Amino acid sequence: MTATSTRPAGALPPHDVTDLGLASEGIRRIEWAEREMPVLRLIRERFERERPLEGLRIGACLHVTTETANLMRTLKAAGADVTLSASNPLSTKDDVAAALVAEYGISCYARRGEDRDTYYAHLNAVADVHPTITMDDGCDLVSLLHSERPGQVSEVLAGTEETTTGVIRLKAMAADGALKFPVVAVNEAQTKHLFDNRYGTGQSTVDGILRASNILLAGRNVAIAGYGWVGRGIASRMNGMGAHVAVIEVDPIRALEALMDGFRVMTVGEAAPWAQLFVTATGNINVFRREHFAAMREGAIMANSGHFDAELDLPALREMAEGHVRDVRENVQEFDIGGKKVNLIAEGRLVNLGAAEGHPAAVMDMSFANQALSAEYVALHHAELGNQVYVVPEAIDAEVARLKLAALGISIDAMTPEQEAYVTSWQHGT
Ligand SMILES: NC(=O)c1ccc[n+]([C@@H]2O[C@H](COP(=O)([O-])OP(=O)(O)OC[C@H]3O[C@@H](n4cnc5c(N)ncnc54)[C@H](O)[C@@H]3O)[C@@H](O)[C@H]2O)c1
Repeated sequence: MTATSTRPAGALPPHDVTDLGLASEGIRRIEWAEREMPVLRLIRERFERERPLEGLRIGACLHVTTETANLMRTLKAAGADVTLSASNPLSTKDDVAAALVAEYGISCYARRGEDRDTYYAHLNAVADVHPTITMDDGCDLVSLLHSERPGQVSEVLAGTEETTTGVIRLKAMAADGALKFPVVAVNEAQTKHLFDNRYGTGQSTVDGILRASNILLAGRNVAIAGYGWVGRGIASRMNGMGAHVAVIEVDPIRALEALMDGFRVMTVGEAAPWAQLFVTATGNINVFRREHFAAMREGAIMANSGHFDAELDLPALREMAEGHVRDVRENVQEFDIGGKKVNLIAEGRLVNLGAAEGHPAAVMDMSFANQALSAEYVALHHAELGNQVYVVPEAIDAEVARLKLAALGISIDAMTPEQEAYVTSWQHGT
């Protein structure tokens, strides 16, 4: 059984992808992911009937994965004109990019491994369609529009943002009065970060590290920098596979949480000579630096799951290696830093997308249901919103959870009228 493109040649939307010939593999994988995305499928069916995004141009800068393809299909079914570029040069799945163009008629600009110039050329191609709604993962499209295309900003009704790092950038823009349209922070939805960041990134980070290195985690010393939603997901999964996990934090409450969850807590300086595997998930820069690389053990492995490839001081690592860098496996580079060799997975970019397939579809089902419903929300309500960062309305969050439980065939209880009265009354005492 092969899935092949049904779109006639010559009817393709504008695009720049690696190889349209990969489309049939992409279609099969997109359909596979779709089976795990029942909530998004229900939304797509409603969108097909109601067409809530009719006439809108959505410019999206997201990881080009099978799950994103299903989101793009949903937005198109709602009547939107959709253009997509990659939100990271290494996360693109070339077969998915090909299928989006050849099968689903969606403009896509993404080539796995694209250089910085191509990355920005692709982002500019999205800006060239003059989006009326932006959909970002890391705020690159919003930043580009504000910094290089200020004349276009007034055309944008509103935007949505997928990840923690993007939300931090947007909040900083809003605080400076620099943000010129409203943005809904999809990451802030409980049905996003509690599940996607923790279970999705937790599992897929382990997946990326194992696919790249095939190391045994049982018995290995692993240091995880950052005990936020992502870090705690990685820590608990590594722990479950028998690793000895230490957490590095700067927030005393999160450090305490890590300790009471059963992990060791160390400074970065203490962890450097102790761990055999290092994983960063802080959203910060230069967590591991020159002095830490120098203190690491022979054969240490480093990976990053934070949004940008800035969590490890890679310029310092390259300088220390003085050109003695070689590919030792697919997605693993070895740096000879004088008397010892250390390894880096996926060039220090998000390891779960660079060396694996990103989050499982079942979790992206909820994240992208929030994206689709937030796009509908801003289409309807943009005129009532200021130039601020908004949380996803509670009703959307609750609806996503309700639909997910229903799709999983799980029922929950409702309070009895007596219970409702009890929990809202101040008159009951001991
Ligand atoms: N790989 C993926 O697919 C994926 C998915 C979701 C989020 N992310 C990214 O992962 C990063 C973390 O996201 P999150 O939701 O866990 O954020 P979060 O804010 O919940 O957690 C980050 C944690 O890092 C800690 N931290 C900051 N600087 C530190 C330092 N120098 N040393 C040690 N700890 C430090 C903070 O105190 C905080 O507890 C962000 O960049 C986010 O965009 C990646």
